[in-house]
Amino acid sequence: MIVTIDGPAGTGKSTVARILASRLGFAFLNTGAMYRAVAYACLRQDIAFEDQEAVGNVPQFLEILFSNNRLFLNGEDVTEAIRGQEVTQAASLVAANERVRQRLVELQRIVAHGVDLVTEGRDQGTVVFPDAECKFFLTASAEERARRRQRELRDKGDFVSLDDLMNQQELRDLRDETRACSPLKPAVDAAIIDTTAMSLEAVAGHLEAMILQRNVAARTR
Ligand code: DC
Repeated sequence: MIVTIDGPAGTGKSTVARILASRLGFAFLNTGAMYRAVAYACLRQDIAFEDQEAVGNVPQFLEILFSNNRLFLNGEDVTEAIRGQEVTQAASLVAANERVRQRLVELQRIVAHGVDLVTEGRDQGTVVFPDAECKFFLTASAEERARRRQRELRDKGDFVSLDDLMNQQELRDLRDETRACSPLKPAVDAAIIDTTAMSLEAVAGHLEAMILQRNVAARTR
């Protein structure tokens, strides 16, 4: 079974997907980390983000590997390095590149082959796994999303003002929602969940109940 969780930044997708995968005993895929890894590689190689051809070549020669909740890029553990502000902004630039997307979608489908999976991103229910059995789209108010990002950064010792984070978030949302290939939007058959006033544990519990209910309904049909 494939469970997709899409939505904008700060809606709790990766935390919820991780909790859900562990409760269901499914594998977990964080596709945002893959775009971040490509952005990190572009920065390391000094590739100009306007050079679409050069950016498009980058993932063709990268080995991206998830192991024990860590992400390895050509053997280097980049789990923390890809969470910084510079990579965060750059990731939405590389995510608009059609060849980058093609390559990462190919890798995502390989990961999903023959396993039960909870996968999260922006296009998992719309483009990558259109036939997924359970699709969710998480939302939350812009302010709550920026607050969650601020807490995440503060836990790592970085202080960024809420205004700055709201501005960066608006720019990223706009890029993700208006790009020509695979823009961020809910799949027509996705359940839309507003997480603004919910703890992420509660969101995971809610989705788990919906998945189990759907399974029971499918078995009794
Ligand atoms: O979820 P995140 O913030 O780690 O994602 C990083 C960037 O990658 C973000 O700008 C959206 C983009 N992305 C995407 O376009 N498609 C995905 N499936 C996952 C992430």
